[in-house]
Amino acid sequence: MDAAAPAPAERTSLRSALERELRSIDDSGLRRFLRCIESAQDTSVRIDGRDYLLFCSNNYLGLANHPEVVAAAREAVEQYGASAVSSRLVSGHMRAHQHLEDRIAGWKGTEAALAFSTGYQANIGVITSLVGRGDLVVSDELNHASIIDGCRLARAQTAVYRHCDVEQLERILTAAGNAQRVLVVTESVFSMDGDHAPLANIAAVARHYGAWIMVDEAHAAGVFGPGGAGLVAQLGLHDGVDIHMGTLGKALGSFGAYVAGSRVLIDQLINRARSFIFTTGLPPAAAAAAEAAIDVCSREPERARGLLARAAELGARLRSAGLNVPHVDSQILPIIIGQVRPTVDTAEALLGRGIYVAAIRPPTVAEGTSRLRLSLMATHSRKQIDAVAQALIETAGSLV
Ligand SMILES: Cc1ncc(COP(=O)(O)O)c(C=O)c1O
Repeated sequence: MDAAAPAPAERTSLRSALERELRSIDDSGLRRFLRCIESAQDTSVRIDGRDYLLFCSNNYLGLANHPEVVAAAREAVEQYGASAVSSRLVSGHMRAHQHLEDRIAGWKGTEAALAFSTGYQANIGVITSLVGRGDLVVSDELNHASIIDGCRLARAQTAVYRHCDVEQLERILTAAGNAQRVLVVTESVFSMDGDHAPLANIAAVARHYGAWIMVDEAHAAGVFGPGGAGLVAQLGLHDGVDIHMGTLGKALGSFGAYVAGSRVLIDQLINRARSFIFTTGLPPAAAAAAEAAIDVCSREPERARGLLARAAELGARLRSAGLNVPHVDSQILPIIIGQVRPTVDTAEALLGRGIYVAAIRPPTVAEGTSRLRLSLMATHSRKQIDAVAQALIETAGSLV
């Protein structure tokens, strides 16, 4: 026995170890709690029997409650049942998945697409299937946790560049001499900041150095580009990107994620992505709902246009009242407060006024950049937006 190891009787029990850890999370104001929504996730939601205006949902286009999307889910439940019940490679690949993947490939203009059960799994699956030891992943410092975890699991070397800093990205690529494969990965619209990656420059630099490019469009899919096909499509960079990833559980109002690209990419993922292979397939109702949502986005581009116009107006109004709201062109408006306590207190004060906006703290965002992450929905009325603007100016305004 190792002399340095504690005797079994000296080991802390699970309960007391976790209680101590949670106390320290509490002390730093970072304890997280679940808040239970008792209604559909619309512009107003019911919590503990009270109605709140909802300004932190990713239901950007209101499609989670759209009659066509809901009907598609209902019909798929009737036809295929409640679950795929098995992994896609066993008996869990159903007609609903095939239809969705064909629809996504057409929408994205790629040879093929593959649906994953979540965006988290998609990012992990892609990165671990494409790179490993001896390879390099180059990642924006604000990329989502699922990208960070994908890099960790892949065991490739990871180099992180400052947010949107293409010059630093290029310096890293210049020095990447020994790496066999190099993968550059970025979000297109950043989840907590709402800003855009300089995709044209990233694509040009990556191409120059023979790197592969992966773009996570979780917050752009449905909102940007023709028919909601994403920011890459809006910028006409389709051929500059190798791996198009996006989620179905945000603007598309459903659940799950997709990866779109060449046929060989999709075949590689089917054969190598452990987070695709060793998990139950997306529920068929989620696949059918996502497909219906893509139809709505393609047919009604005015939803996304109106959403972005109202977000721009609200951002300008909050800035002119002195709030720290960066200039971004998206439905996500970060209101930077800085320290944890005042951020949480402001979110609580807003709740007291019947408005639900989430406080975002470390480790989701960097120390000193805690914020309210306001997200608009295409279905918010002018009156609701006026109400949130007024409440924010009166609560967060006192902090600036
Ligand atoms: C940029 C980004 N990528 C991936 C994900 C993960 O997607 P999912 O919620 O489907 O797991 C999210 C958010 O959840 C995200 O914001």
